[in-house]
Amino acid sequence: MTQTIALYSIKGGVGKTAAAVNLAHAAARDGHPTLLCDLDPQGAASYYFRVRSARKFGRKKLLKGGKGVDKHIKGTDYEGLDILPADFSYRKLDVALGDGSRKTLKEIFRHFHDDYEWVFIDCPPNITVLSENIFRAADRIVVPCIPTTLSALTYTKLLDFFAEEGLNRDKIIPFFSMVESRKRMHREVIDALSGNAGYRFLSTAIPYLAEVERMGVTRMPVAAQHPSSRAARAYRELWLELRGPHRSG
Ligand SMILES: Nc1ncnc2c1ncn2[C@@H]1O[C@H](COP(=O)(O)OP(=O)(O)OP(=O)(O)O)[C@@H](O)[C@H]1O
Ligand SMILES: [Mg+2]
Repeated sequence: MTQTIALYSIKGGVGKTAAAVNLAHAAARDGHPTLLCDLDPQGAASYYFRVRSARKFGRKKLLKGGKGVDKHIKGTDYEGLDILPADFSYRKLDVALGDGSRKTLKEIFRHFHDDYEWVFIDCPPNITVLSENIFRAADRIVVPCIPTTLSALTYTKLLDFFAEEGLNRDKIIPFFSMVESRKRMHREVIDALSGNAGYRFLSTAIPYLAEVERMGVTRMPVAAQHPSSRAARAYRELWLELRGPHRSG
């Protein structure tokens, strides 16, 4: 069964794209056919993989779904890892999905199940009609959280939204991102949130590391630069925790 994982948060700049890129790379490295869908018109994930959408591809093609989308999936430099690059026209995906007359993302993404075992979605920040579509399309919604009081507040807002809309809260899987353990506030927020069983934080945290920042220059996943670096090991651990023991092989 294909697993569709959205990297999502209401807040911007929390490490969604860094996680999407490195988790997708880790999944492919483990031999799983993997697709990374870049749904953010900023196109940062596409940039990291040195890929751009074709001029003929955009929001309308994506929303039609089916084989018309397959043509625009591109290979990366890494075996087993493909990417559906973002297009700037995605800035209006929200409006297009909002009119209710088109396919939902869930229907569009189902088409990828034939070819891929893991599908990662890099989401734009914010909470919109597009996010709601993503919540329904994804099996799990992985939320990077910088351990500050404001992030914690935003995270509880997401849980409230799921409760109000009758969405499945169990899909939400948070992890601590850009952790600076020398900062007292980070330590305190981690203690407080991970002590709350209802929040279900993953045990893997991604530290704040220059290697991750440098991806903007190297345009490579961290494990492709240095497989044994701290950043590569941290994302690998995150991947193994997400994959779970039942998915070995
Ligand atoms: N663990 C980390 N350590 C150091 N820098 C990081 C880490 N994770 C992300 N960054 C850097 O922080 C910035 C924001 O990260 P990223 O683009 O992954 O966040 P995002 O949540 O996808 O942002 P947006 O909401 O704009 O899409 C980038 O410059 C990235 O290189
Ligand atoms: Mg991003």
